[in-house]
Amino acid sequence: MIFYFSGTGNSSWAARQLARLTGDEAYDITHLNELPNMDNVWQIGFVFPVYAWGAPEIMTEFVKKLPKLRVFTFGVCTCGGDAGLTMKQFSKLYPLSSSYSLLMPNNYIIGSDTDQVEEILQKITAARTELERMAQEIRRQEQVYRVHEGGLAGVKSHLVNFGFNKFARSAKPFFAEDSCNGCGQCIRNCPAHAISLRDGKPVWETQCFQCLRCINECPQQAIQYGKATAGRRRYTIRGYLPQNEQI
Ligand SMILES: Cc1cc2nc3c(=O)[nH]c(=O)nc-3n(C[C@H](O)[C@H](O)[C@H](O)COP(=O)(O)O)c2cc1C
Ligand code: SF4
Ligand code: SF4
Repeated sequence: MIFYFSGTGNSSWAARQLARLTGDEAYDITHLNELPNMDNVWQIGFVFPVYAWGAPEIMTEFVKKLPKLRVFTFGVCTCGGDAGLTMKQFSKLYPLSSSYSLLMPNNYIIGSDTDQVEEILQKITAARTELERMAQEIRRQEQVYRVHEGGLAGVKSHLVNFGFNKFARSAKPFFAEDSCNGCGQCIRNCPAHAISLRDGKPVWETQCFQCLRCINECPQQAIQYGKATAGRRRYTIRGYLPQNEQI
């Protein structure tokens, strides 16, 4: 049983690939009204993006309520660069037999522009190979810690992560430009239900998960975050997947 959270599809794709390769099922935690039956579970996996060198709060809150079963457990964080102590911190909330990071295209366009197309394609190709290796290890129930922590991991995962959750999760800077046609996609797809329609245009609540799905996936590219995102490209994995792997 694999539980995942994903903003722009990287973690969703990785979770589904792992489910396919290990003969398991993947569940989007934002669509779960109640837990699936866990009677015959032989493994539990978690897949989620790294947010400021930590796990997204929605995932940490989810695992706090999950029963701790005595089965093989693994966690995979997808990241654009490095993961810091994300998996060590996560395994304190839910003990993990194995931990991995998976390098994927960067979706944090508030901080910097997306990767160039060539790098995006390279990362996805390398991720396919890494997912197959992971799946073999998971099937053998090997205990592995293969996480690219990067430099200053402690500082990033403690100090910077604290700052992110306290000060950088404001949804107030989001706004829709005139090119917005009021299609409502951003509202329907926001996992935090933090967007609503007012006078035909989306408006944002004060806080959200910062998954960046709305801004990256708007078909009109009409959403901006203050002045940070003007002129930057948008990223979602959907444009890079073959039909049979669409999420
Ligand atoms: C709010 C936020 C913070 C992020 N922080 C990090 C980070 O600390 N380290 C990193 O390597 N990537 C970081 N990223 C990039 C994502 O972790 C990466 O692109 C991930 O694969 C996105 O997964 P998703 O498509 O499933 O949402 C961040 C992205 C967002 C939206
Ligand atoms: S997805 Fe884009 S075009 Fe559609 S309502 Fe939201 S901002 Fe407007
Ligand atoms: S408002 Fe946008 S960034 Fe925030 S949770 Fe919703 S989709 Fe994600």
